[in-house]
Amino acid sequence: MSEFDSVSTDTKAILGLQLPTDPRWVNLAQISLEEVLTDHAYCEQKAATSCISLIQRYSEKEILVEALAPIVTEEWGHFRLVLAEIKKRELRLGKQRRDDYVNALLLFVQKGGDHHGRFLDQLLLMAMIEARSCERFKRLSEGLQDEYLRKFYRRFMESEAGHYALFIELAETYVDKEAVRRRWKEWLDYEAEVIQNLQVRGDRMH
Ligand SMILES: [Fe+2]
Ligand SMILES: [Fe+2]
Repeated sequence: MSEFDSVSTDTKAILGLQLPTDPRWVNLAQISLEEVLTDHAYCEQKAATSCISLIQRYSEKEILVEALAPIVTEEWGHFRLVLAEIKKRELRLGKQRRDDYVNALLLFVQKGGDHHGRFLDQLLLMAMIEARSCERFKRLSEGLQDEYLRKFYRRFMESEAGHYALFIELAETYVDKEAVRRRWKEWLDYEAEVIQNLQVRGDRMH
């Protein structure tokens, strides 16, 4: 069993993630850097556009708008950093791939029902994606051979951890803390299932 077979204790303690990341990110010796950077670039792009969407949808919530406006800039800055890294290494930004992980998470977002529940789920979806990104970047920062890239991913890891905390804080600003805690627990359980399903499929593919 390698050190990547389980979520390290601190990641679990900080983020509450139940399972380690999907296999695409696990085999660090074999993954293509071009693919990692391409996937990463689109993650950052989607983070920026998701924050813009939240601002558009919840423009009446001043604290949210104020908090997310700088995150849009930050995420777009992340996208540019990744793009620069791709260029520096004479790699190419590939096509955006279907993101089975995010698509599966989207299914858990409350569709009908009350406005508060839907709003809370939008924030927890973002918190979930940030938490998982943070865990992936942590693995890369610990597992990649290239010293420069290890530091590169360390900085992203710290930044996404901050964003995870921000989305939870925003949820607690607008929704009863106990309700946030309860729903977050459900998200964590659901996410663990998603990771497990992706892993089963990954095993079959190799
Ligand atoms: Fe980011
Ligand atoms: Fe982020």
